[in-house]
Amino acid sequence: MINAENILEINEKFSSMEPKEILRQVLADIPNIVVSFSGAEDVALVVMAWKLKKDIKVFTLDTGRLHAETYQFIDRVRQDYDLDLDFLYPDTEAIQKLTSDKGLFSFYQDGHEECCSIRKTEPLRRRLASVDGWLTGQRKDQSPTRTDVPVAQLDTGFAAPGKTLLKFNPFANWRSKDVWDYIRMFDLPYNPLHDQGFVSIGCQPCTRPIGPHQHEREGRWWWEEATAKECGLHRVNIIG
Ligand code: ADX
Ligand code: SF4
Repeated sequence: MINAENILEINEKFSSMEPKEILRQVLADIPNIVVSFSGAEDVALVVMAWKLKKDIKVFTLDTGRLHAETYQFIDRVRQDYDLDLDFLYPDTEAIQKLTSDKGLFSFYQDGHEECCSIRKTEPLRRRLASVDGWLTGQRKDQSPTRTDVPVAQLDTGFAAPGKTLLKFNPFANWRSKDVWDYIRMFDLPYNPLHDQGFVSIGCQPCTRPIGPHQHEREGRWWWEEATAKECGLHRVNIIG
């Protein structure tokens, strides 16, 4: 049984297992768990989890700034799989204050942290307060900040006071190609932006297509240092 005490051993064991087997055990042991879906290639995680548990809970942080294609794609997946998917929204007063004070594009001058903390981190914290664990599509090959991402970990960044929160990244040891092989093998729907040069997809103003041989992370927050490119969702990657 997976718990906070044996999470290091579990991670060790999961490190040589395929995502589907990891998910099977996680979903059996932790019923109160939720999948985070960004509307990009993590569709593979959502569908893999859904195949094992049809009423799996899924959420998308609706920052209000996603591409139109991403909104359409997420809603298509929600409908195709009859998913129990919630869109999560920023606090109205906080976002009102940010945009009144600084307009819609403050992140280009001030860095992305303030906007991401209102549009992503705070709604995520609210959602995670009521679960025992969450699942993400993070992989080691996605970013210089993710080279050590474990399959199973304690989430010290989002655990509510007095509570334990577990975080699972079943694709941690998959490469991008493995995810795309899965998407193609099972003919999954995918975000059409991927056919337009977008690899890593986040909010529209902070995402751009990449060219040949660029690292996928170069398409995100390109005006900032590579080591700063975590929006707060995966704080545990930086704080440990
Ligand atoms: S981010 O932190 O830089 O934005 P990234 O786009 O690489 O993250 O996605 C990694 C994982 O974080 C996704 O597979 C998903 O689990 C989660 N995630 C990222 N953005 C969102 C979002 N808007 N809503 C829900 N989950 C998200
Ligand atoms: Fe704001 Fe950009 Fe962060 Fe989206 S990715 S929440 S638009 S700073």
